[in-house]
Amino acid sequence: MPESLEFSAIILAAGKGTRMRSPLPKVLHPVAGHPMIYRIVSEMVASGAKETRIVVGVGAELVQRVVEPLGGVCFVQKKQEGTADAVASAEPDTLTGPVLVIGGDHPLVTKKDFEYILSEFKKTEAALAVVTCELENPGSYGRIIRHHGQLYSIVEAKDASAETLKIKEVNTGIYVMTAEVLNEYLPKIGNKNEQNEYYFTDIVSLCKENGEIVTAIKGGAHVSEGVNDQKQLAQASTSIFQRKADQLMDDGVIIIDPKNTYIEDDVVVASGTVIYPGVYIRGKTKIGSHCVIEPNCFIEKAEIGQSVVLKAGTYIVDAKIDNNSSIGPYAHLRPQTEVGKDCKIGNFVELKKTKFGDGSKASHLAYLGDAEVGKNVNFGCGSITVNYALDKKKYKTIIDDESFVGSDCQLIAPVRLGKGAMVGAGSAITKDVPAGALAVSRSKQIMKENYQPKAPSQLSKNEE
Ligand code: UD1
Ligand code: CA
Repeated sequence: MPESLEFSAIILAAGKGTRMRSPLPKVLHPVAGHPMIYRIVSEMVASGAKETRIVVGVGAELVQRVVEPLGGVCFVQKKQEGTADAVASAEPDTLTGPVLVIGGDHPLVTKKDFEYILSEFKKTEAALAVVTCELENPGSYGRIIRHHGQLYSIVEAKDASAETLKIKEVNTGIYVMTAEVLNEYLPKIGNKNEQNEYYFTDIVSLCKENGEIVTAIKGGAHVSEGVNDQKQLAQASTSIFQRKADQLMDDGVIIIDPKNTYIEDDVVVASGTVIYPGVYIRGKTKIGSHCVIEPNCFIEKAEIGQSVVLKAGTYIVDAKIDNNSSIGPYAHLRPQTEVGKDCKIGNFVELKKTKFGDGSKASHLAYLGDAEVGKNVNFGCGSITVNYALDKKKYKTIIDDESFVGSDCQLIAPVRLGKGAMVGAGSAITKDVPAGALAVSRSKQIMKENYQPKAPSQLSKNEE
């Protein structure tokens, strides 16, 4: 940021957000996976604010925990007596240079918007600039009153006449002024209004009355998109998901139905990958090129190579999948799982803390936990590692390259199958199986020719 754009920011986030009707402080409600206040503070810090002050009150400690690691500094507003009182709580008398004031409930505003607003402010001679926009349905926003085309005052919807309510130009709740102007007029704001609150918006008429130049900067509609209730919260998430989908599509990702696809900001997807509807991708997930992500997959913190197919309904958290593997439908990859190249993980297969080697398969109904599986292993249908013992500890199963585990087997850990070992279907394996050996541990089949069923009371002891 050039020297001339140096500024400080005050973000108002002390209110409870009564209209949210939720136990969570308003600014902590998540918008597309990140708390509102996290979004605005990170964009503010990224735009080069020399200081970002956040006014906290309701849920102060929780808000503090989110914003301090981002570089924000918190100031407590003891009683929520209005936006002007909130600004005063940020101790503006210790600031110099331009100050940008914004409500913490505007999650769609970006670094670019802040840069634009500040550069516009610099171009004017104004003491104060208010960012406004035109809305088809101006609802509860403060209305912009102009005299001879000049910004004159802001009237809150609650205090407005029917005539004033018709005005479509609204206050977005973003203001820029010099610290001097702020400190001169802020103490003069009173609370004579419908709600007996100190409205920061009154700074406009105070400036005007004292002959200061006040100007409006037109912002895009997204700048005004504040969140005051659950419907607006959902709308804000939708806008951010759409923004991310647009970016990915510009980069060549094929998203079949962007309105029903949910990809959070930190996700990276390479071009040529196809994403079906109902997919939700979170956290620092990376997906390579030419993958297919079928409907209703949930993916969090995953690293996925190229040409991987995730079939419908697959659930992945904190796992890695290498190139050309196919997962699902309805597979569950749990944390610390690594699937190699050319693998097949089929339907209803769960893997936890398991390394699964290149070319290996677990095609149906299986559980592998705390396991190390070599290359080209076949893990049969219905087979499991029994990793949790009576002492409530987890034990490891090692399956070396080329082993074959038949269907419906239990490998009771700790246990190891050597290279090329085979386990017959229906076996419970408690001892290590040497390389190349076959282990079978099921009872022999008994045959009774021409058997006539008997009532239980007629059975001899032996037959029972
Ligand atoms: C405010 C503006 C309105 C504008 C709208 C844009 C005022 C009086 N009104 O109305 O003109 O159109 O924003 O979104 O400023 N807060 C505090 N302490 C308080 C009161 C509020 O920190 O004592 C914080 C809230 O947590 C919120 C922000 O200030 O983040 C705005 O408050 P809110 O009650 O949402 O104001 P609006 O009614 O939306
Ligand atoms: Ca608001």
